[in-house]
Amino acid sequence: MIRDVLRMGDPRLWEKSQAVRQFGTPGLAALLQDLRDTMAAQNGAGLAAPQIGVPLRVVIFGVDFNPRYPDAEPVPYTELVNPVLTPLTDETEDGWEGCLSVPGLRGVVPRYTALRYEGFDPDGNPIRRDVDGFHARVVQHECDHLDGILYPMRMTDMTLLAYNDEPGPLAREVAADASGVDPLFIDLVERWPARARWFGN
Ligand code: NI
Repeated sequence: MIRDVLRMGDPRLWEKSQAVRQFGTPGLAALLQDLRDTMAAQNGAGLAAPQIGVPLRVVIFGVDFNPRYPDAEPVPYTELVNPVLTPLTDETEDGWEGCLSVPGLRGVVPRYTALRYEGFDPDGNPIRRDVDGFHARVVQHECDHLDGILYPMRMTDMTLLAYNDEPGPLAREVAADASGVDPLFIDLVERWPARARWFGN
């Protein structure tokens, strides 16, 4: 079932979620179904249970290969329960993020460039992966939701928080070097009504 996504300001998004204690239950299966349906309906790259008002440590994420952007790294679809993240480096990288709970906005967020995540699938089978780049970014964003953290709370430069239909700093970055920018955001700039201010056409 497609569920309403809570929006920034709802106090439930700031709560610390509880660990799942039993795997393979009908309740957990129903939660995963709702998360899948809701993420698909919203075209999201990820969704965390608290975003639909369920305070449990469950996230889903995944980004399909896009033939228009063959260099963009796909992220395998993953259902992750009780995740634990361990950074594999002190290095962080700035990148643009959006969030279904912060609709209409984009912001630049520093994230660890590489990390290990461990947890379980909904049947209780262990998952353990070492990832980097966009995959690592998506996992950090989704797991932050389980601790009540929304991406604007991680930002270090609030001048890089912008509306989707007014992405000035994003357009500047795309104009300078689009290679590190998520293709979805390049699309955003290409559709941007005010693009002539940065691109001249
Ligand atoms: Ni989010």
